[in-house]
Amino acid sequence: MKRFPGVIANNGVEISVKPGTIHAIVGENGSGKSTLMKILYGAQQPDEGDIRIKGELRKFKSARDAIEVGIGMVFQHFMLADNFLVWENIVLGEEPRSGLTLSSDLAIKQIRELSSKYGLAVDPEAVTGSLGVGERQRVEILKVLFRGASIIILDEPTAVLVPQEVDELFASLRELVASGVTVIFISHKLDEVLKVADAITVIRAGKTVGEITDTSHVTAVELATMMIGSILPHPGTERGVITEDVLLEVKQINLVRDSRSLLADISFAVHSGEIVGIAGVEGNGQEEILEVILGLQAQTSGRVLLKSIELQHVDTRHRRDAGISYIPADRQRDGLMLSATLWENTALGHQRQEPASDGIWINRAALRTYTQKIIEKFDVRTPGVEVSAQALSGGNQQKLIVGREMLSSPTVLVAAHPTRGIDVGAQAAVWESLREAKRQGKGLLLVSADLDELIGLSDRLLVMLRGSIVAALDPQATSAAELGAYMTGARVQEAL
Ligand SMILES: Nc1ncnc2c1ncn2[C@@H]1O[C@H](COP(=O)(O)OP(=O)(O)OP(=O)(O)O)[C@@H](O)[C@H]1O
Ligand SMILES: [Mg+2]
Repeated sequence: MKRFPGVIANNGVEISVKPGTIHAIVGENGSGKSTLMKILYGAQQPDEGDIRIKGELRKFKSARDAIEVGIGMVFQHFMLADNFLVWENIVLGEEPRSGLTLSSDLAIKQIRELSSKYGLAVDPEAVTGSLGVGERQRVEILKVLFRGASIIILDEPTAVLVPQEVDELFASLRELVASGVTVIFISHKLDEVLKVADAITVIRAGKTVGEITDTSHVTAVELATMMIGSILPHPGTERGVITEDVLLEVKQINLVRDSRSLLADISFAVHSGEIVGIAGVEGNGQEEILEVILGLQAQTSGRVLLKSIELQHVDTRHRRDAGISYIPADRQRDGLMLSATLWENTALGHQRQEPASDGIWINRAALRTYTQKIIEKFDVRTPGVEVSAQALSGGNQQKLIVGREMLSSPTVLVAAHPTRGIDVGAQAAVWESLREAKRQGKGLLLVSADLDELIGLSDRLLVMLRGSIVAALDPQATSAAELGAYMTGARVQEAL
């Protein structure tokens, strides 16, 4: 049992995990999954209830106690220091043994051994800041293993990965359980859960509502029904009328940083009523493109135009005021002020627009009403508008950002992974609101690691690889497998 002001996060939840298995936890946003895992990891304490490890009653006052008995957790938000080398991050925080400092050679050797044993490919001597998301995740897992964990908890590990990386991660998890490690993982991607899990616990409103010990006899639809009481939605393939009316134009953008080319000669346009999807393995320039459009990064050369107006000398705030909305990839870093209230957060990035302000004064009452509207329309589960953003579950934080950016009536919406971390029920609502924006004649630029979402929603698909657009595809004539092949460079478009 775990209570927060106005919420019972865990309400008599039960879970039992067999050693040496992969155990998945599923449940809608705010159902209490992360809270349960934080309790198991000692990061939070339960108000009532017990934890038993191998039959033995355990009380964890802190994460240190949990690590002590071999429990390790990989959080959804990685906690690595960018300017350290990989091996330093892995060893960081480890107590020097019997007064001796672990030598770097020995640490690197041990890391290489773990890395090859479990297929967790990383270079221990690389600078952490230069790593892609998939690599960072492997570093986090290695860090937990290095500390000798025998139970590893992963909170939504696949949310940030593209399909190929998911397969690699699952292969590593299989290796881990084969050598006796127990893996507990949370995911909203039910097909993945069915592929890799030996057992599944379904949580709803802080209670266990299902225990599946034979995953070969359950379908994603059945799981969704247990979770949310309705059937599994699909992105669909509605196509609208795309006009000749160009809203956003990107012309010959180049971006060079530390003498590395991150974007090379990128040009495309987004028309009114169109969703342009950008596919790519994380770290191939997709996010840089969005940042250049928003003015968060200055391009080395090239132009960005909104309705034929140059944005070259316009800062991010004015670009937003001019009608560009933005759903960032990292919601906690770029999308929210975690310690501020929900209504303060709905003003973020829109401080000078209605209803946040009349241009001079912040209108608190109007903001509270507006926030209430976002909460209702986007089904944000919260006790009220006065709670801080950090009190929301991950998926509900995401819904708040999506709601804020959609309701600000943008001309162009630039979205990175809009449904990341959102449960299957709420996903359908977000897809519908993106389509609604398109029907209203807005232009949308969509980056997503979810290939079904990209194919289902986009009117046109661009594929990025190493900072260049390497393919332009018709989503209706492209399968996820084909798209994946272009993303990795296994397949090349001749005409481009
Ligand atoms: N620090 C906190 N203070 C107040 N309420 C909290 C806090 N942490 C979680 N809650 C509440 O507890 C409930 C369960 O949250 P939790 O993060 O465990 O959900 P979850 O199942 O992980 O959801 P998601 O899939 O969206 O990540 C939610 O209603 C959330 O708002
Ligand atoms: Mg969570």
